[in-house]
Amino acid sequence: MTRPAVDDANASSGSTGGPILEVTNLQKYFPIKSSGVFRRSIGAVQAVDGVSFQVERGSALGLVGESGCGKSTTGRLITRLYDPTGGSMKFEGREIGNLSNRQMLPLRSEIQMIFQDPYSSLNPRHTVGTIVGTPLRVHKMVPENKVLDRVRELLEVVGLNPEHYNRYPNEFSGGQRQRIGIARALALQPKLLVADEPVSALDVSIQAQVVNLLQDVQKQFDIAFLFIAHDLAVVRHFCPEIAVMYLGKIVEIADRETLYNTPHHPYTQALLSAVPDVKQAAVGGRRERIRLAGDVPSPINPPSGCRFRTRCWMAQDICSKVEPPLLQIGKNHKVACHFAGEFGAMPTSPITLSALGVDGQGNKIAGADASVEDFTRAGYADTWTDVATHQERSNALVGTGGLGTGMSDEQRGEGGTRR
Ligand SMILES: Nc1ncnc2c1ncn2[C@@H]1O[C@H](COP(=O)(O)OP(=O)(O)OP(=O)(O)O)[C@@H](O)[C@H]1O
Ligand code: SF4
Ligand SMILES: [Mg+2]
Repeated sequence: MTRPAVDDANASSGSTGGPILEVTNLQKYFPIKSSGVFRRSIGAVQAVDGVSFQVERGSALGLVGESGCGKSTTGRLITRLYDPTGGSMKFEGREIGNLSNRQMLPLRSEIQMIFQDPYSSLNPRHTVGTIVGTPLRVHKMVPENKVLDRVRELLEVVGLNPEHYNRYPNEFSGGQRQRIGIARALALQPKLLVADEPVSALDVSIQAQVVNLLQDVQKQFDIAFLFIAHDLAVVRHFCPEIAVMYLGKIVEIADRETLYNTPHHPYTQALLSAVPDVKQAAVGGRRERIRLAGDVPSPINPPSGCRFRTRCWMAQDICSKVEPPLLQIGKNHKVACHFAGEFGAMPTSPITLSALGVDGQGNKIAGADASVEDFTRAGYADTWTDVATHQERSNALVGTGGLGTGMSDEQRGEGGTRR
């Protein structure tokens, strides 16, 4: 199976050679209607509320968070199964958030989705040949007399017996069904795959096999992934960059090493403390789990200020008054917390004050202003705020050796990237 060379593909879609996907300040509010004849809008579920990130060509971004935080909605927005309420989504440099269904049609082959449930995502009345062959026919990927050959080829790629094309989904195990779902997604030679919890419904013993398969097809076909998962353990080996979501927002995003070794958001620290095989440098060497109090609040009426404050052991007055921006604190590290810092060494005064132009009580300082654009930018800037010194640092200072960790020089000297 081959794909057009990147240059040809870029030429046809007007790509600028930047990230394959750039999402900026993306929003999805589901309206809540009153009952009765007039069905007025009485509120909204703020499922995704100002999310920004980039996915590089052939790379993988992990999107992690508890149930209901907006991961699937984000995935469904990118595949345009949902229309966004606001924000921008650029695929190969082209805005896709406002495209009509007809305009989206040619792009549908390039952005594919793998669903969580391999049982409900395959039509039980269709054979595997029909399931995998239909997208080939609809998008006229191969001549009709070659469809079966391509289906067999795809089944082989995903580790299934190519002669099983005439079987039905119920004749396969959960892991095999997910492989069929992957073959269907690969049929259109996508450039971006949104994998929405592709292994959550599978036995633990099968999960690794399917993740390995995804890794193989990623390398083989140079596919970029948005890999959605409940917990940080699953995305760890797959994704060089990981974003942590809470109640519709990204609270921390960083390269893998930084996120696992020096998470700066209390929520990420709590999630990491639940990953059994992660050495717990992340939480100061503690092996015990950080237990979060209470449930995730409703996205219909999220807490004021920081949405995590109702469950955060670090919360102070400012947290209920001012929303912490997604502040860049390292070369590849952004975090949305007034008191961002390593576990056990979090600052006593908010790190966000100068960036936001507010005082310690959260009141605006006259004349001082925050550059909102800086906080909604999808990628990383060359300069950032150092948590320890509150001073600006830049790529030039860090040099080319290794990735930034958001640590000060003293911290770096103490232990580097502690594991
Ligand atoms: N079609 C819809 N209409 C109204 N609300 C919705 C709709 N889809 C999702 N929601 C709500 O939006 C919020 C985010 O849902 P979403 O499915 O994106 O979460 P998730 O992070 O994928 O959760 P899970 O891990 O359980 O799959 C939830 O509160 C959910 O109830
Ligand atoms: S901003 Fe405040 S409430 Fe939110 S995570 Fe940081 S310390 Fe906790
Ligand atoms: Mg989901």
